[in-house]
Amino acid sequence: MPVKHIFLSPEQVLFGIGAVEQLGDCVTSLKGKKVFIVTDKVVVGLDSFKAVEKSLRLKNIEYHLYTDVEANPTDVQIDNGAKLYKQTNSDSILAVGGGSSIDSAKAIGIVVSNGGSIRDYEAYDSVVNTIPPLIAIPTTAGTGCEVSAWAVITNTQKNYKFCPGGARIIPKIALVDPELTVSMPPGITAATGMDALSHAIEAICSPYAMPQTDAYAFSAIRLVVKHLGSAVADGSNMAAREGMAMAALEAGLAMNANTGGVHALGHQLSTQYGIPHGVAMGLMMPIIMDFNMIACLDRMADIAVAMGEDITGLSKQEAAGKAPAAVLELQKSLGLPTSLSECNADPTLIKVCAKWAMTDTSIPGNPREMTQEQIEALFKKAFEE
Ligand SMILES: [Fe+2]
Repeated sequence: MPVKHIFLSPEQVLFGIGAVEQLGDCVTSLKGKKVFIVTDKVVVGLDSFKAVEKSLRLKNIEYHLYTDVEANPTDVQIDNGAKLYKQTNSDSILAVGGGSSIDSAKAIGIVVSNGGSIRDYEAYDSVVNTIPPLIAIPTTAGTGCEVSAWAVITNTQKNYKFCPGGARIIPKIALVDPELTVSMPPGITAATGMDALSHAIEAICSPYAMPQTDAYAFSAIRLVVKHLGSAVADGSNMAAREGMAMAALEAGLAMNANTGGVHALGHQLSTQYGIPHGVAMGLMMPIIMDFNMIACLDRMADIAVAMGEDITGLSKQEAAGKAPAAVLELQKSLGLPTSLSECNADPTLIKVCAKWAMTDTSIPGNPREMTQEQIEALFKKAFEE
């Protein structure tokens, strides 16, 4: 019988303001001498990136900069990055950036260690050889990919996203320094924060949830509710930045229980309409939570409590209903769109979105089975909300 629950995490998580100063020691501990840095053109220009380079220089560690990462990384960029890793004789990988950079680093590592193209590794756990030692430094607070076993890559031949994953692609070290998230503008802070919330909520409702993922997920929800608004309102608020960095990390660990319908449907909004991942998650969350309600009434009531809702005297149904309502309120209060009409999306693409959602890697993590017709109806609802 297959094992249902596996909890994976990096070997080390270093967390705290100034943690980036430990980078050189981290690389040395992994016996790295030539680091392939995967990042983007915005991040290399930030003041905080100087601290990354300084820490490497202090330990005489050579590095090569690969900055061709863009939002929604593609198979072509990944395969090119893997070629360059080999040409530069690199022996380890450092990802600095948001989800796109860290996912790209994982995917480049897959091709480096296993050959072929990243498109050969679409199936979960199809990666045979462990990727080179990877250190992940997030500059956003939301994706949780610094601790997760997943990457999201776009197949440019067929225009859909796939998620290579498994134990062999997890970073060795997650180095989380909340100071590096200060440069995020309010819109990205809000969207990435909603992504973290979606990881926590989907992990709690997943059929693969376990006590370990529950503990991280409920804590992450409380942190998001406490800190996300403050981080959006004042990006220099370090207590809020620290709280959100921890929320993202905890929600990323909770993702061991998989994500579900929010991600399965939300991924299509990014691919077909170019809607940023976190915005798509926040938009789909209340709709999918309503749909899933019958499958996990108790869990939804618990989520409502973690969101700060008072459920005293309410029936279980009423208490559970407070959870999606609270998520919708949070999305609105952050100034994020709550319907696809607001995003000027094209409703004629609903069938295409539903078709790809049916085969998305996150579908098995949804607590309620979904037919293509139901998914189409949920996308239609997303235009109305
Ligand atoms: Fe996500």
